[in-house]
Amino acid sequence: MSAPTTDERSEEGVGVPRLVLPCGLTLYNGDCREVLPQISGDVVVTDPPYGLEYAYRSYEDTRENLRELVDAFMPIVLRIADRAVVMPGPTQIGLYPQPEWVGCVTWDTTGTFGKYGYNQWTPILCYGKDLDGFGNVNGITKSDVLRFSGGSAEMIERKKLKDDGIHTCPKPLHMMKRVLQRHTMEGETVIDPFMGSGTTAIACFLMGRKFIGIEQDSEYFNAAAERIRAATAQGDLFLGQNSANQRTNVT
Ligand SMILES: C[S@@+](CC[C@H](N)C(=O)[O-])C[C@H]1O[C@@H](n2cnc3c(N)ncnc32)[C@H](O)[C@@H]1O
Repeated sequence: MSAPTTDERSEEGVGVPRLVLPCGLTLYNGDCREVLPQISGDVVVTDPPYGLEYAYRSYEDTRENLRELVDAFMPIVLRIADRAVVMPGPTQIGLYPQPEWVGCVTWDTTGTFGKYGYNQWTPILCYGKDLDGFGNVNGITKSDVLRFSGGSAEMIERKKLKDDGIHTCPKPLHMMKRVLQRHTMEGETVIDPFMGSGTTAIACFLMGRKFIGIEQDSEYFNAAAERIRAATAQGDLFLGQNSANQRTNVT
């Protein structure tokens, strides 16, 4: 079978539908446990389900399902990429393998404060060897704080995605850009096994990273593909930033 042309949907290679978009973006519509063993990249950056009974379209978001998922996908992730950056949510850390480091996004939310409060943060589990030169990677220094405000202008697009029923829990685009800036280098291939609405794909495009995404739900997959097409067609008009590693506005 010949290689799929740009934008052609095919099942070549891994046995699930695949969409190859321009600018180094490849999207798989399937179960990451099936797809991951057949691909490779430089770094996994992902935001898996939380096991908090969120109302996803098809995935049943129980803690037990998450436990099974983590036990299945994390060993593969650690095998196929040199580094992994996982954003699991605070109460899910215990389900994951011991990381090399736990970073943190300080997230001043305006609506949710967690069961016991004092919880306006989200962890970043780091696996594998860190990028060389930390102290100043892509302009980020060790003393930097990744701080985001729930009420900031950049959160409007995220709220619209939720309000329009595109996805239950999309990550804010500027947050993912900042995470990529710290943990990946321009030109690297980033894998996201839980692509959802495609936020990390768009961030990768804007930051000059290649991207392989996997999403098992067909409606989320199609919505992500549409969103990614629109974003890649117009570049980063909203944020007025096109260059890779340009510092994002973080508050
Ligand atoms: C927390 S959401 C990701 C949201 C994403 N970061 C965004 O900004 O839209 C997790 C996603 O994982 C998907 N998912 C659950 N199990 C999966 C599996 N085994 N393989 C691939 N995707 C899966 C769910 O359908 C859901 O869209």
